[in-house]
Amino acid sequence: MQRKIMLEEKDIPSHYYNILADLPNPLEPDLHPGTKQPVGPQDLAPLFPMELIKQEVGTERFVPIPDSVRDAYSLYRPTPLYRAYELERALDTPAHIYYKYEGVSPAGSHKLNTALAQVYYNKEQGVKRLATETGAGQWGSSLAFACQRFGLQCKVYMVKVSYEQKPYRRSMIQLWGGEVVASPSNETNAGRAVLAKNPNSRGSLGIAISEAVEDAAGREDTKYALGSVLNHVLLHQTIIGQEAKKQMEIAGEYPDLVIACVGGGSNFGGIALPFIKDKIEGKKLRAIAVEPASCPTLTKGEYRYDFGDVAGMTPLLPMYTLGSDFMPPSIHAGGLRYHGMSPIISRLYLDKLIEAQAYEQTNVFEAAVQFARTEGIIPAPESAHAILSAVVEAKKAKAEGTKKVILFNLSGHGHFDMSAYDAYFSGKLGNGQ
Ligand SMILES: Cc1ncc(COP(=O)(O)O)c(C=O)c1O
Repeated sequence: MQRKIMLEEKDIPSHYYNILADLPNPLEPDLHPGTKQPVGPQDLAPLFPMELIKQEVGTERFVPIPDSVRDAYSLYRPTPLYRAYELERALDTPAHIYYKYEGVSPAGSHKLNTALAQVYYNKEQGVKRLATETGAGQWGSSLAFACQRFGLQCKVYMVKVSYEQKPYRRSMIQLWGGEVVASPSNETNAGRAVLAKNPNSRGSLGIAISEAVEDAAGREDTKYALGSVLNHVLLHQTIIGQEAKKQMEIAGEYPDLVIACVGGGSNFGGIALPFIKDKIEGKKLRAIAVEPASCPTLTKGEYRYDFGDVAGMTPLLPMYTLGSDFMPPSIHAGGLRYHGMSPIISRLYLDKLIEAQAYEQTNVFEAAVQFARTEGIIPAPESAHAILSAVVEAKKAKAEGTKKVILFNLSGHGHFDMSAYDAYFSGKLGNGQ
């Protein structure tokens, strides 16, 4: 009985996998917010270094990972793949449940996979400072760590509700040398405009993105970094799925189901895209994106062009959206409180290559607690959405009497989310409606 399937450092993928090479229907272009014409590299140049702009639109199937980035990955990669024997036993299911654990990174989630790559390409172009937004603080802390590693300054606009709920993520950003403010802040026009309308605004990812974009666009030495949604972010995250594929091979199984939570779509894309390549080539596979019922972008949103932020400063993206002014309720899965969805994930959903499910917060925490009590790891509230879906599917397998192989991505640990678990145990956790 092998519980953990480990790879060696030499097995860290040498390339990122680019699904744009294999999509049955190509993505529609992003549009300039002013002219509504397709954006070109020059439109994006104030925000991103050229290498990332190339990756955003490139269709080469495999993109080499620079040695310095692979070296930085070796701090925590390859990440383990676990067989969830204890959870299986508790559920008394014939399903085999596997999870890829990204919480072993220094920042505690998958976000570091793209943070290291993005900071590296910015450094190569001589950029000195990065501005970004963060929801739950997972992305902000990852970018702060990556900036520290490669010697850049880092400014983080942190959604106010998380800034208050998760003070230790704030401290982590500071610990790794980053500067962090609550968003909406008084430091940008976008922040001031929101505060003028609603001084008690608790913020949203859409507002924080507007602030970070404005910061980067207004300074010569600064570029912008986004922790999800964009093609190059999903590209970097595909190292998760590539490793998982090798590990499943060692386990002698191939998943019937690949499951991950979705905020902007990057950990789902990270684990699922290398498997979806197989599906496009004819393999049987269900891929399930799991979102909060209170921010149901795929299950209740519509597919159209929309802004990535609240102030309308980003390009218009072809995606599922709840509307760029949608204010999600203050649920604890802060990283899933986003009105939009990655264009790649949106396209796959439109083309029925993936499915989506939405769950209520209290049910998600019930699954999180069951997981922590069986497997030991305390999951991030975001990741717990994937756990609940895996549990639901494993129960279905039991009811049907079929042996399903389920693989899910445990995108991060919840060590800084204990106030959310406190609220759950004291009966104060609602469903964010
Ligand atoms: C642990 C964790 N999982 C998932 C997400 C959702 O983001 P994405 O959909 O980009 O993976 C976040 C976002 O902050 C996160 O912190």
